Amino acid sequence: MYTLITGGSLGIGKALARECAGRGMNLLLVARHEAELDNASREIREEFSVRVETLQIDLRAPEAPQKVLDWCRREGYAVNVLMNNAGVAGTVKFETSTLEYSDERILVNVRALVLLTRLVLPELKTHPRAYILNTGSMSAYYPIAYKSVYSASKAFVLIFSRALNEELRGSQVSITVVNPNGVRTNTGTHNRIDSHGRLTKRFVIMEAEEIAAIAVDKMLKGKLVVVPGFVNRVIIFVSRMIPRGIWQRKASNIFRKELLEEQSV
Ligand SMILES: NC(=O)c1ccc[n+]([C@@H]2O[C@H](COP(=O)([O-])OP(=O)(O)OC[C@H]3O[C@@H](n4cnc5c(N)ncnc54)[C@H](OP(=O)(O)O)[C@@H]3O)[C@@H](O)[C@H]2O)c1
Repeated sequence: MYTLITGGSLGIGKALARECAGRGMNLLLVARHEAELDNASREIREEFSVRVETLQIDLRAPEAPQKVLDWCRREGYAVNVLMNNAGVAGTVKFETSTLEYSDERILVNVRALVLLTRLVLPELKTHPRAYILNTGSMSAYYPIAYKSVYSASKAFVLIFSRALNEELRGSQVSITVVNPNGVRTNTGTHNRIDSHGRLTKRFVIMEAEEIAAIAVDKMLKGKLVVVPGFVNRVIIFVSRMIPRGIWQRKASNIFRKELLEEQSV
């Protein structure tokens, strides 16, 4: 049995892979860059007694989700856990952004996630117990200026996961969506988090390993929506009591500042 993780070579995806390996789960890691895939699989194989296979593929390509399924079938990998984790973030002024910028977020964060779920679901249903874990984001809860396409893509992931959960109710497949706040992973997130001030860094930012441990634990318990970190859950609760316009302007100011700092680098 295998756990298929998109974006399993780096960041949260790699942390999810390590967390699963620690629980004895065999892994299928999917990403674009071979060197990072090789590093992750070597590191995990050396530390844990699990099988790790990798597929180098660009999930922006129209035929990529089908190719991932074909690879699993050709190699005889039985998948009982699908983790749709690959995603692309960023902060940009929509008006001046390129078409490729928006397209990448739609293709990876939305299209690949939906199509891979559709393609792998029949395979998941052949097992007595199976799981889907989607990596969303706390930005799913707010329309965030300068992250308009990204936050909308994560709102899509949240609503898609909730809706599919209803369709899968009573079946052996459960679905979980994990919505982290900031996590220091790639250079972009490091720089963006550094522009957010001391309080945010201290109380809100979490390590990829913490996110992964919580996500896998809740997934195995069949929980639908997971927001890691007490402070992050309080933020969502409080924000629901504040008029949307006020909250949105506050959030937008944070990301305007982030954008200005990025441009000055
Ligand atoms: N970091 C945060 O603060 C944060 C907060 C909330 C939610 N998230 C979400 O968590 C997930 C992981 O984010 P991260 O910060 O861990 O990102 P990351 O460190 O940049 O890792 C992204 C992973 O996805 C893969 N990937 C990216 N584009 C791909 C493509 N076109 N085709 C195939 N694989 C692709 C990358 O490998 P290659 O580059 O080799 O393809 C890498 O393995 C994303 O869905 C993100 O939206 C992150």
